[in-house]
Amino acid sequence: MCGITGYIGEKEAAPVLLQALKRMEYRGYDSAGISTIYKDNVTIKKDIGRIDSINEKIELGKAEGKIGVAHTRWATHGGVTKENAHPHLSCKQKVVMVHNGIIENYRQLFKELSDNHEIKSETDSEVIAHLIEEEYDKEKNPLKTLQNVSKKLDGSFALVVIFSDKKDEIYGVRKYAPLIVGIGEQENFISSDIVSFIDYTDNVIFLEDKEIVKVTSNSIEIVNFDGDKISRDKTHVAWEAADVSKEEFSHHTIKEIHEQSSTVQNALNQDDEEFEEFVNKLTSGKNIFITGSGSSFHIALIFRKMLTKFVDSPVQAFLSSESEEYIESMNDNAILIPISQSGETADLLEVIRNVKDKGVTVLSIYNTVGSSLSRVSDFSLNLNCGPEIGVAATKSFTSQLAIVYKIIFKLGNVKDGNEKIIELSNKIKDILSKEKTLQEIIELINESNDVYFLGRAIHHPIALEGALKLKELAYIHAEGMAAGEIKHGTLALVEEGTPAIIINPKDESYNDTINNATEMKARGAKIIGISSEDNEVYDYWIEIPKVENMLYPLIELVPLQLLAYYTAIRRKNNPDYPRNLAKSVTVK
Ligand code: AGP
Ligand code: GLU
Repeated sequence: MCGITGYIGEKEAAPVLLQALKRMEYRGYDSAGISTIYKDNVTIKKDIGRIDSINEKIELGKAEGKIGVAHTRWATHGGVTKENAHPHLSCKQKVVMVHNGIIENYRQLFKELSDNHEIKSETDSEVIAHLIEEEYDKEKNPLKTLQNVSKKLDGSFALVVIFSDKKDEIYGVRKYAPLIVGIGEQENFISSDIVSFIDYTDNVIFLEDKEIVKVTSNSIEIVNFDGDKISRDKTHVAWEAADVSKEEFSHHTIKEIHEQSSTVQNALNQDDEEFEEFVNKLTSGKNIFITGSGSSFHIALIFRKMLTKFVDSPVQAFLSSESEEYIESMNDNAILIPISQSGETADLLEVIRNVKDKGVTVLSIYNTVGSSLSRVSDFSLNLNCGPEIGVAATKSFTSQLAIVYKIIFKLGNVKDGNEKIIELSNKIKDILSKEKTLQEIIELINESNDVYFLGRAIHHPIALEGALKLKELAYIHAEGMAAGEIKHGTLALVEEGTPAIIINPKDESYNDTINNATEMKARGAKIIGISSEDNEVYDYWIEIPKVENMLYPLIELVPLQLLAYYTAIRRKNNPDYPRNLAKSVTVK
């Protein structure tokens, strides 16, 4: 969800923090703020809106001080208001703090605070600043203070904290939300995201859960919540993480859609040995569970459909947020495959925490280098698709799919699997080159209140994904459905002109899906067929090339991404930053 960061060093902190906020804005963008400390003055500048507009209004980057913290918010508790924006300051101005996560017992903690504190915001976060101040008055020692306070907080939190009487130190605390230290030359950074400081350093230390870090401009000290010292090596992260420019494209989202012809190929670049080990482990399990959220869950559904044909063990796919009964049925014979672009989705990380003690083997598929998921997995495969900034998953989805294919090819002993994907990537280019032909369909969708996406078998998860893209980007109600289900209820909603997008390449499910399309059309629906073959039932035909049946999902999705993106543009929505959403969902 939100992005938090802190800086200490020789530079003026505010401009560095402002740049960091811009880089992290995709994580949350309803409000933002920066606080710096200079001599005895604490400056806090915060407001609602996007970073550029806040900056125009109150010059976020202009404040004295070589130490500071910053926050870009995705509200969980309390509306989007200036008061609720972070940083939060304690009453005696001794503590400045930013928080990512949710404090579940914040109401209780309010009650326990002494009368000397006045809470100004409706957030679950502000209480932490006051608690820290109260504890600091007793302990006088920041590390000990943060240990005591952390143990009182229920929920998930990453914090960056400054004590105004310790202007040469900055503190980070991590429990179930990401936090990384960037190690510079006479300067250091603490942040929820590497991209926020990648222009300054690519040497990092990943904090683990229940750890606290004390950072000065030239030292880093880590302790756990019990105060035990932790020694941790630094990691060198790839510079590719810095590649977050839009190049010639007007939005990250469309750039990322276009990148897919190369990113699906990059997904194939796996270390042979590690890949082999991953697949061997996968097949050694007696029970296989695949999990994810949102788009990554749609991949889990496709993966399950394909995998069941190649392994004897039962395979189940479940939403990470609906995991209870699946977790109960896992034992040390189980294989869990979490799939995630960010590697930080709280629902998914919680599943892993809940099964780790059962001896379950965790084989993950993730994108963000150094993410929590990559570090809690037994084996993992990286998507190699570079940072995805657009909030809607696009290239990460097709890269996940490419990895699924690579695994299936391996299990099916298909020798020329990589070549097949490379060939597909050229077909993606062809589809992208025809984006202008979608104009009429975009107009139809733009005028509609509801759009239905229908598909059977492996096309069903693509229908779900197409609908999710349209909801997120165009703000139009959309429903992805198993095509055979329309007659069990949804037909009642079809009116004259309701668009129905039929994902229906020429394979075994083609005729059945055509029947469902015909049923929709008979009730007035306008049928948009995405297929390798035209049919008289289609009012509009979006042609996709003929490929091997199992490979269709990878190419049939691309027109759906384009439809969602261009409808968003038509409606003047900002597709990179859909309202109310955030890229990395680090709260439950
Ligand atoms: C996709 O377009 C969404 N923004 C969202 O559903 C996303 O797929 C979901 O939050 C999971 O994220 P992850 O892959 O980073 O775990
Ligand atoms: N719960 C805090 C708030 O609503 C932090 C939200 C976040 O992590 O984005 O302000």
